[in-house]
Amino acid sequence: MELFHGHKPIAVPEGVPEWDADPYGTDELTDTTPFFTELRAQGPFAYMTKYKMLACGRYEETREVFRDHERFVSSRGVGVSDFALEEPWRSPSIVLEVDPPYHNKTRRVIMRALSPKVVADLREPFAQDADALVARLLNRDIEAVVDLAEAFPTSVFPRAVGIREPDSRKLIDYGAMVFNAIGPDNDLRRRIMARAPDIVPWINEACLRANLTEDGIGATIYAASDDGQITEDEAGMLVRSLLSAGVDTTVTGIGNALWCLATNPDQFELLKEDPSLALAAFEETLRLTSPVQAFCRTANVDTEVSGITIEEGSKILCVLGAANRDPDHWPEAEKFDITRKTAGHLALGVGPHICVGQNIARAEGQAVLRAIAEKVDRIDVLGDAVWRPNNAIHALDRMPLRLVAR
Ligand code: HEM
Repeated sequence: MELFHGHKPIAVPEGVPEWDADPYGTDELTDTTPFFTELRAQGPFAYMTKYKMLACGRYEETREVFRDHERFVSSRGVGVSDFALEEPWRSPSIVLEVDPPYHNKTRRVIMRALSPKVVADLREPFAQDADALVARLLNRDIEAVVDLAEAFPTSVFPRAVGIREPDSRKLIDYGAMVFNAIGPDNDLRRRIMARAPDIVPWINEACLRANLTEDGIGATIYAASDDGQITEDEAGMLVRSLLSAGVDTTVTGIGNALWCLATNPDQFELLKEDPSLALAAFEETLRLTSPVQAFCRTANVDTEVSGITIEEGSKILCVLGAANRDPDHWPEAEKFDITRKTAGHLALGVGPHICVGQNIARAEGQAVLRAIAEKVDRIDVLGDAVWRPNNAIHALDRMPLRLVAR
């Protein structure tokens, strides 16, 4: 079979409109509203002519496809390339890019390493770091993406994992690589992949047992190889998964939260009045801005969703960002409202692959937003926020701000 962008080029299913938008185009990735609105208007699914694959952005179908690991598998890759037909650029993740029952085993190991007790013990150090960082940034012009959104997770998270010699830049670039690699062979992917020879060996090295502290999350994962739950190689792969999935995402969540608060002063006032809303504000940021904008699934059988026939081998781009702003599911979907009930948002996924690091992400977001709520009186926007195109992540590139002290 001749592949198209690394997957089987499917025929247009009956009843599905053909659409020539490019979900990996710079405009679609940065100015998301028109793309999301049009995608939902197409119907339950759209046939993306540029990639000969399907896309969905309404809440119901996106949720159904994303959570059903039996019909819509992850083991064939969560990007446009079908790993059953094309060799992936790196050995696939043994948690994200596998299916049950193997997935149950690896996921269980990570879940134990990120137990509620582990997360509870991280809260105090996270809060201290967030307080110190925000205090340092008060009353001066800052570049909020680098100075705050990147600075916080790249200092607290590698330490929690137990990376002995963290390199913030390489961690950020590795995240950019992993998420851009999910897209087609476009400029974004090519540019970052050119740096793989520099970054990939560093990451692999950093995840080795000998290079981890003895008291971090990484060490707990390796301990699972001592009693035979997994092999030592698998342990290294799982530590790599944490670094792939746990840096860019939280950097993005924190940056996007700052943007939401800076551009919605009424909501910032609410947060200041009641800093215990920090977690709710982070959660609403996740819903509204969906740091992981879109991942794929692959139909492993001939099936049907909402009356649409889906053939085996179909790649389906599940646009979580569009589903999280579907007005048929969310009242005033485009509004940033930190008092909203956000349960059921898809920003952390749904089903067996739902984000295994979600409580670490929440603990980080909450620590930063609480520090801001307690120390900052006003967030002055000093220039335009610029979004950074990435094939899977919706993140800011630059956001000049001033955090005016209380
Ligand atoms: C705001 C921050 C975060 C967001 C928005 C986010 C989003 C997601 C999403 C959407 C998925 C589901 C992918 C799928 O079903 O295909 C996922 C899975 C995953 N996340 Fe997160 N994540 C965040 C933070 C983290 C952190 C801090 C860690 C590590 C501590 C982490 C580790 C993982 C891993 C290992 C998976 C794969 C789980 C599995 O396949 O069972 N994530 N994340």
